[in-house]
Amino acid sequence: MRMLVQFEASNSRRVRAGPNVQRVCLNVGFLVDLSTRNNMSMSTLSMPHINGLLVYLVVVRALKLWRHLRARGLSQSLKELYLLTAQSAFRLVTRLPSVRRRVETELDAAKVEIERMLLPHGKDVVRHLSLPKNGRPLEWIVASMEQMDREAPSRTDYRDGKLSGTVYHGGDDMERIIVAAFQRYCVSNPLHPDAFPAIRKMDAEVVAMCLRMYNNPTGAGATTAGGTESILCSVKTHRDWARAVKGISEPEMVVPASAHAAFDKAAAYFNVKLHSIPVDPETRRVELKRVRRAVNANTIMVVGSAINFPDGCQDDIVGLGRLAKRYNIGLHVDCCLGSFIMPFLEKAGFPSEPFDFRVEGVTAISCDTHKYGFAPKGSSVIMYRSADLRQYQYYVNAKWSGGVYASPGLSGSRPGALIAGTWAAMHYMGEDGYISSCRDIVGAAKSIQQAIENSFPELYVLGKPPASVVAFGSRTPSLNILEVGDKMSKKGWHLNALQNPPGLHIACTRLTVSMVDEFIRDLKQAIWEAKGSPAGTGALVSLYGLGNSSAIGPQLVGALVSAFLDALYKA
Ligand SMILES: *Cc1c(COP(=O)(O)O)cnc(C)c1O
Ligand SMILES: *[C@@H]1O[C@H](CO)[C@@H](O)[C@H](O)[C@H]1NC(C)=O
Repeated sequence: MRMLVQFEASNSRRVRAGPNVQRVCLNVGFLVDLSTRNNMSMSTLSMPHINGLLVYLVVVRALKLWRHLRARGLSQSLKELYLLTAQSAFRLVTRLPSVRRRVETELDAAKVEIERMLLPHGKDVVRHLSLPKNGRPLEWIVASMEQMDREAPSRTDYRDGKLSGTVYHGGDDMERIIVAAFQRYCVSNPLHPDAFPAIRKMDAEVVAMCLRMYNNPTGAGATTAGGTESILCSVKTHRDWARAVKGISEPEMVVPASAHAAFDKAAAYFNVKLHSIPVDPETRRVELKRVRRAVNANTIMVVGSAINFPDGCQDDIVGLGRLAKRYNIGLHVDCCLGSFIMPFLEKAGFPSEPFDFRVEGVTAISCDTHKYGFAPKGSSVIMYRSADLRQYQYYVNAKWSGGVYASPGLSGSRPGALIAGTWAAMHYMGEDGYISSCRDIVGAAKSIQQAIENSFPELYVLGKPPASVVAFGSRTPSLNILEVGDKMSKKGWHLNALQNPPGLHIACTRLTVSMVDEFIRDLKQAIWEAKGSPAGTGALVSLYGLGNSSAIGPQLVGALVSAFLDALYKA
């Protein structure tokens, strides 16, 4: 370290000269760059400096490699190497015109299929591709919306109660509450608290209520546009905290393989290296020993879920908290899905393990008001142990020519109507309302779990889910669980498909509570059908089969889902 500092001091002019030099100064490329491009400054570099620097670079490289190996294990690292090699080979091969043409033909066929599924078709579909010359009246607008609903009818009416998650309350009563709040605060924006003081107050009160639910009344938080933004904010906060307090400039985080993809997204957005740690195949909890091995001097935070999305199980938050405390790093507990279920489990009469701020070492919790809080979509809360930590989430710019600018999260302007809708939903429900819906929803999940364990010998439940989600896989090679998912789709059910291991899950909502018996009947039938038929060509089987077909499968899936995203914006 001393060598490098010395080096930078004696060559500070040069260090600033190159565009990327500061960023890549730990790369050997810098040395080459320096020695070939600027012989003048070479004279100020004595040999011992260079030797010292080289030794330093080798040590840094070796240390990085060692940390990587320690965190991921040898076999995982070799697998990564194999995948990287296979992928670059694939990229090379697809440059061959003949291969590229074939891949493109296949992809084009898939795109047509995706668009056929997503977009309305037929001669009488009215497309609105440019502004109407003259403005339209309300009657026209409502009539056009009715027309669009007719052109592209939903294949699954959420009111039928056959969707996993998605719409968590779905009652007309809640709709009236939210619409009343929207109507009143339609144009409001919390970016201007002077103009909309009531919105500022409700925003603060939503956070305060959540902090009390999670047993941290002296903590701090903020509302965000959803669980993903809450997680992005938390990673950014811990990154900037670690940089300021611990001097960490190459941040890393340690995340269970079962954690939400939003952590991978945050890692990609904010340049944090992410170590994904396997979960125990029996309990579905992250393996603490391997988490500990992955923690090093660059670690800013570890993550646990209560509950996770894939199988609805809860990590050992107490164990993770002990680790976080020992190494003085952050611990984010993802309660995006657990939201308004986990805090009420005990009061609803179900067993519950510690997961909130009462656990030492927990520094942040995300809670989606727009899931089991029943708020309108676009609403979540990120909470921190202290207001000091929240400071690192803020963006402040005192010199902007548009004025002094400051905002708590990723967005600037935000819809005040959503905040009012969230505040209204929480007050409409009240603690007793949430406790009774927790009792109904978790009760439904437990009934499904028991039915699967007792009367489906070919299935097994993943882990011991404590709350509203039940995931299951197939015990026998003769039953493809994704085929079961495709058969369930034909019966109107929308279950979530899982990978590693393959499985299906259902996240129970208020709408599925009355559908438990029908679910079990349909599942029996679907298994029977899946066994009887050869490997099908349903959406789940095709997509996940492709992803698993070879080393380059994930890249093909990537190309497909990008085509899917393109199709979403096809007018
Ligand atoms: C839903 C969910 C999130 C966040 O998802 P959003 O769609 O952005 O709200 C994060 N973690 C878990 C476990 C979730 O289920
Ligand atoms: C993909 O392959 C792996 C390893 O062969 C297997 O464990 C996994 O269950 C497969 N996943 C799917 C979705 O078929």
